[in-house]
Amino acid sequence: MTEKELQKLMDSMTLEEKVGQLVQCLAGQFISNEMEMTGPEGELLPKEELNRVMGSVLTFEDARQAKALQDQHLAADPKKIPLLLMLDVIHGLRTTYPIPLAMGCSFDEKLMTECADMARKESAACGVHVTFNPMVDTARDARWGRILETCSEDPLINGRMGAALVRATQREDLSNPENIACCVKHYAAYGAGEGGRDYNTVELSERILRETYLPAYKACLDAGARLVMPSFNSLNGIPSVANQWLMNDVLRREWGFEGVVISDYNAVGELVAHGVAENLRDAARMAMEAGCDIDMVMNAYYLHLANLVRDGEVREEAIDRAVMRVLRLKNELGLFENPYHGADEEKEKELYLCPAHREIARRAAEESAVLLKNDGILPLTDGTRKLALIGPFAEERHLVGFWSRPGAWKDAVTLPEGIRQLKPEIEITTARGCGADIGDTDESGIAAAADAARKADTVILALGEPEYDSGEGRSRAELTLPGPQMKLARAVLKANPRTAVVLFNGRPLVLTELAEIAPAILEMWYPGTEAGSAAARLLFGEANPCGKLSVSLARGAGQYPMAYNHPNTGRPKPEPDSQAFPFTSCYLDMTNRPLYSFGYGLSYTEFEYQALETDRDRMTPEETIRVRITVKNTGSRAGKETVQLYMRDRVASVVQPVQQLIDYKKIRLEPGETRTVEFEIREEQLRFWSFDCRHISEAGEFEISTGYADHLKLTKTFRLEK
Ligand code: GLC
Repeated sequence: MTEKELQKLMDSMTLEEKVGQLVQCLAGQFISNEMEMTGPEGELLPKEELNRVMGSVLTFEDARQAKALQDQHLAADPKKIPLLLMLDVIHGLRTTYPIPLAMGCSFDEKLMTECADMARKESAACGVHVTFNPMVDTARDARWGRILETCSEDPLINGRMGAALVRATQREDLSNPENIACCVKHYAAYGAGEGGRDYNTVELSERILRETYLPAYKACLDAGARLVMPSFNSLNGIPSVANQWLMNDVLRREWGFEGVVISDYNAVGELVAHGVAENLRDAARMAMEAGCDIDMVMNAYYLHLANLVRDGEVREEAIDRAVMRVLRLKNELGLFENPYHGADEEKEKELYLCPAHREIARRAAEESAVLLKNDGILPLTDGTRKLALIGPFAEERHLVGFWSRPGAWKDAVTLPEGIRQLKPEIEITTARGCGADIGDTDESGIAAAADAARKADTVILALGEPEYDSGEGRSRAELTLPGPQMKLARAVLKANPRTAVVLFNGRPLVLTELAEIAPAILEMWYPGTEAGSAAARLLFGEANPCGKLSVSLARGAGQYPMAYNHPNTGRPKPEPDSQAFPFTSCYLDMTNRPLYSFGYGLSYTEFEYQALETDRDRMTPEETIRVRITVKNTGSRAGKETVQLYMRDRVASVVQPVQQLIDYKKIRLEPGETRTVEFEIREEQLRFWSFDCRHISEAGEFEISTGYADHLKLTKTFRLEK
């Protein structure tokens, strides 16, 4: 349809029909399905009326349901306006790739693109029009369960990975039934909730908001994301969905966003709980005034918007503007001509879990795993004959993460299945040893597990955190391995020191004690469908670990929030940690340093950083500086290495980070191979947000280094001249 035809359609609509376009309902109100919701159900409204006027639904299961929903709506809607069908496809629809936090550890946008492209194809076949993805909330506190859902504590990684996902998901033409629209979330700073508690208050200066939290959303919008979802949290006193500064001043006017804003699940209704709205009618008014176009579930808009217009409290122009945004999105998706879009039961069968998609998921699981420690026990040699798989995750199949689609866990390859497939000759025994639930104290299985360890020549100890303990509404105050897992680990390692630990978890865990006693630790996160295959290939050396931490791993929960790119303070703790002078910014009972820092990860080979050179030692804003970093693979096998470039602005008008990742490149080197990696530093990369919130660079001295955070090397300086 043309813009004129859309306008004509809207002009023909009654006020109730217009409001209906701004209402999103649960698919489960209109079809029976097993979708668990992450919010209150509330009283369900008359579904016949809703079905006639509603503009969109969320959370359906497959192409058949997608078509049924569309058919029953269009049969009832006299204006024949097709539904938008939306779904959380966060890291795969049926073929599940690793959680976003794991993908961040791959430092690989190409891999992200492959995974997102796979998810796009499966989602389109399922009948999805909009995915509530990417989530690019910067997260620096592992107590927050949704840290698993973002890529990093660093906005550069979140922005690059999020933008790659948007481009691969939307591609060039949304009317192509194989393409779907992205909704970037949760705008803004949802990951900065006080105490690491989900949905909690966020108080941030505008400067830090712009420096650390807004860039990744902006990168996704620059990549073309068509929708934005405001976050549940209040931001500096006003919940995002009603925050005029955030939504109108920044998003609409400063960034020029003209797409659709959809609330999070009942976030409009929750303005009453926040205490900024007197009642649901007040909440609807506030959200509409802030430019929230669609009310997700719970129906504040459905119940009150029309009356607010009739009573003159909301201008109909505001409704019309929101409705046009929704109609334009439907039109861009080609739904008026093809309301089913890509829904196709045959394609679902062809694409879901197909070998090509499994291969992508397996490679992603391999490249996002991080080898945290290895005293040489890994990779397991061919000498392994009797292998004991011990621990609560030894035979676990729930390895796909909180935001995988319901039932996707059943497709996952377990650790023993992966090992048997790769090494059929190895005799495998298994022992659970203990549970992994918070508060689980049952140690009765530990003795038998230790005994199984004793009888094996090698042990793989599979530990972690249950899939449902990281994710929405899953904040934790303690971050050690839950249940008696450490007791199990001590007993097994005592019984057989030839033990390698594999971790399956969503949030970063506190591994301080484990790191002291375990000879090797391989962090697999929630690796997705091909979990066991990837883990087996990594453990036996068919694949070489290359992941680098995209988040800091703390020594204790008390260190959070924690980020590698922190300012210095006036009394920095001297490094290495010394107790020489107590009056510094430090803890009495713990170092400031993380257990494993951002950018860290081991390989089965070694990389020597031989030189960092620059083509000049000064630049003007119009110029650039070329940086060349020479790396050699000095080990005995090929491997991938993420060469990281860090910058430090030595003196500026506001405090600066002690280090800031400004670029990175992933390379593959054969044994003995040397490669020089080139970067180009531009003035924009030297900018920061000033005290009065201008995005500027200032003349002065800058340091550049490589290596990884807290372990920088080959440092060089240059000057920016103005
Ligand atoms: C949830 C989440 C959001 C998700 C939405 C729809 O509560 O906060 O990320 O997209 O509801 O499921």
